[in-house]
Parts: sequence; C-alpha cells; structure tokens
Amino acid sequence: MAAIVLDLNDIQRGVLRPRPAPYAATYVLLRIDDRSGGRELMRRLRPVVDSATPLGNSDNDTWVSVALSYQGLKALGVPQATLDSFSTEFRQGMAARAESLGDSGESSPEHWERPLGSTDVHVVVTAVAPGVPQLEAAFERARKRYQDLKGIAAIWRQDCHVLPGEREAFGFKDGISHPAIEGSGIPGTNPHERPLKPGEFVLGYPDEMSEAPQVPQPDIIGRNGSYIVFRKLHQRVAEFRRYLKANAAAPEEEEFIAAKMMGRWRSGAPLALCPMHDDLALGSDALRNNAFLFKEDDAIGYKTPGGSHIRRMNPRDSTVAGVVRIHRMIRRGTSYGPLLPEGVLEDDGVDRGLMFAFVGAHLGRQFEFIQSEWMNDSAFFGGSPGGDPVSGTGDGTGTFDIPRRPIRQRLRGLPQFVVTRGGEYCFMPGLRALEWLGNLTT
Ligand code: HEM
Repeated sequence: MAAIVLDLNDIQRGVLRPRPAPYAATYVLLRIDDRSGGRELMRRLRPVVDSATPLGNSDNDTWVSVALSYQGLKALGVPQATLDSFSTEFRQGMAARAESLGDSGESSPEHWERPLGSTDVHVVVTAVAPGVPQLEAAFERARKRYQDLKGIAAIWRQDCHVLPGEREAFGFKDGISHPAIEGSGIPGTNPHERPLKPGEFVLGYPDEMSEAPQVPQPDIIGRNGSYIVFRKLHQRVAEFRRYLKANAAAPEEEEFIAAKMMGRWRSGAPLALCPMHDDLALGSDALRNNAFLFKEDDAIGYKTPGGSHIRRMNPRDSTVAGVVRIHRMIRRGTSYGPLLPEGVLEDDGVDRGLMFAFVGAHLGRQFEFIQSEWMNDSAFFGGSPGGDPVSGTGDGTGTFDIPRRPIRQRLRGLPQFVVTRGGEYCFMPGLRALEWLGNLTT
C-alpha cells in the first residue's frame, strides 16, 4: 500500500509538534461579538498561523495556533449543515459533557473560572516557544491582529512557563511520551510503537478503524483539521506531598510510592526500565526514557502498576479491555503558577497547575474514553475500585494497588489532587479552512 502523505502545508504546526523543552506558552480566549469582525479576525490571523512544514531550524519549536469552539463557529455564521457535521461532543461543548468527564463537586462547571465553560469562549489563540523572548515575538504577531479589531474582545489569558527541571507542579519530568504518526515526519518517542495512522490525529486521512473516516463538511473545513481539548487543571501540591508522607513507612519510601503512582520516577526515568531506584541519566535520555512496553516482562505490574498514571493513559501492549491503538492522543502539558517550595506541606493559597492540551481526531473515543474509562475507572485492567492516583477524581474512598511479592501493597483513601478549573472543546482548522471561514458570505 502507498505511504500516506500528510498535507503539512495546510496543517497547523500546533497539531503535530511535541511541545518544546524548555518552553513558554500563552493561551488567549477571544469572543466574537460581531460576525464580520470575526471573519476579518480569521483573515488577519491566517498569515500568523504556522504550518507544519518543517523549517529546518529551531523555529520549528515556535508556533501560533488558532482554534474555534462550536460557539465560535456559530458566531462566524457557519451554515447550519456544516455545524451539524461536527461531532456531537464538540457541538455540546466541554461543560455539557461534565458527567462523562467526571467534572463534579469542586470540578463541576458551576465552579469553573469565568469565562471558561460559558458561551463566550469562541476562539483560542495559543503561542508556544522554547523561551520567553521567542514567545513574546510570536504572540505579539497575533495580538496585533486582534487588538483594536471591532467586534472582537480578548476575555481571558493564561501564561505558562517551564518549571525547574522541566517538571510539572507535583515534581515529575513532563513532556516525554509522544506518539509516532505515519506520514508526519516527526519520530515518536517509543521505538517499540508501530506508527499510528494519521487519521487518528488529523481529519481527512485513514485512521486505525477506517480508510475514509467521516470529516466535517464541506471537505475544505474538515480536512487537515483536528479536535483540541484544553483544560486548566489546578494541582493540590501540598496535599499530594502530605499523602506520600502519610503512606510511606519511612521517608525514603515516599519517592518509591510517588514513582509507583506515576509509573516514572521524578526524573522521568520509567519504572519499566529501572524499577528499584531513580536514574537521572535515563530520565533525561530522550532515546531511552520512553523505549519500553509492559506485557512481556511485567504483565502483573510488579514494576509499573496497572493503575499508575502512565500505564492507565497509555497501556501500550498490556492486556486490557479494548484496543489501545484507538484510544491514543497527542498530549501537551504546560505549567502555570510558581513551584511550591521544596518541603512545604501546607497549601500557600497560590493557584498552580497544568494547562492540559489534547490533540486528536475523535473527542469521544479518544479523550472522553480515556478520561472516563481509564482515568476514572479501573475495570479495564481488572484493578480495584478507584481512579488514577495522580489525576483522577478521587473522593477519598479510592484505593491504589502496588503489586508486590508476597502480597500487594494497597494505598487507601485517595484524595483528589487535581481540580478542573475549566476548559473547552475546540476545532483547529487547516489553513485553507481558516481562509474559508474568513471568506464566508452568508
Ligand atoms: C494535572 C494533571 C496531570 C498531571 C500532573 C500529569 C502528569 C503527567 C506526567 C508527569 C506524565 C509523564 C511524562 C510524559 O510521558 O510526557 C504524563 C503522561 C501522560 N499523561 Fe498525564 N498528567 C495529568 C493529566 C492528564 C490528563 C487529564 C490526561 C488525559 C485525559 C493525561 C494523559 C497522559 C498521557 C496520554 C500521558 C503519556 C502516557 C504514555 O504514553 O506513557 N494526563 N502525565
């Protein structure tokens, strides 16, 4: 069969590129108050949005991307037949999907940071770069285009920046695992993973289930676009640290429990490759730190527990209910807020956490499935009741099992360490589609 060629000139760079390390990022939300202003916005933003075509230098790691919510497409006056051709989850929006996502209690949309979850969120402009000067230059290119544009209001902004050691707020190295995608020209980070069909991430290409999956219509709007999920996730760092302390028999066991919960040591070194102790050199070695599978030598999870964050989020070749390859995602995490100083066990009241971004072609069978079946349930791998020990919706009753000989260790009373502050489902159109949106006449 002929190799699939992706139309990189038309796909936004923000779809396929792993986030740079180190990084700086800015998210801005825009509201379209006036249809013609919204169309003008699309025309003006088009030239500042980078395509996925490789540049052959470090500029590949800097990009501005533009995505729209369903409300945003409506505000532009996109014809109803086209609106109806988008996926149900997208049309409903993230707040309406709260139940499937486990966004209840403090994470429920009524507590979200405004305007997240409201019908005012229309356009998401994201700028990502390897450092602050590059970010400012890239973001400024975009800001000039919408600032002072009649009928367009900037309603929210979140700045993100790398924390020391490229770690997220709980202290683990982030930004390691990235899937291999056929035809993208970007190597995946796990040499043992067969590249996934590009239609899993970009609309208009064969995916793992079909040669010609459905695409929003007309073709020009759907082709080369992707669905995006962005979520602002607050992290309760002090509570996470206290839980480790309370459940460790001795101080040195804290790191062991933390690693079992994540599936990696803080350095990023995977338990699969060094189960007994952290290994800084392995953690920072991009050629080795994601080169593993689970089934052959760790079917039970003696090294990497089935319930750990990374094994849930990507069970690789583990025996689980369902087919792993149809539930994959491109995922990017960028941290916001300052680090809680080392050793502090009391909350300082400062907001810190992760801006989580998903990129994929299927909100339902990828993001929502992973969130509801793999993150917030354990039946798929035959685990005891309870969700993801790092990012699940723990209500204080969940358990986390660490398989051990002769008898497993069971951690009880898992609290909720991550609270959803809000987010939205968006569509990141191809560049021709952005033009099409800008030139609508209806
Ligand atoms: C604040 C919440 C979260 C934190 C602190 C967190 C942290 C991490 C860390 C440290 C890694 C390992 C580094 C890497 O592989 O890049 C990771 C991997 C991953 N996370 Fe999360 N994560 C969070 C939420 C989520 C959510 C909500 C999802 C999806 C619904 C998710 C999906 C994934 C996936 C798919 C991987 C890669 C797994 C692999 O291929 O090994 N994470 N996360």
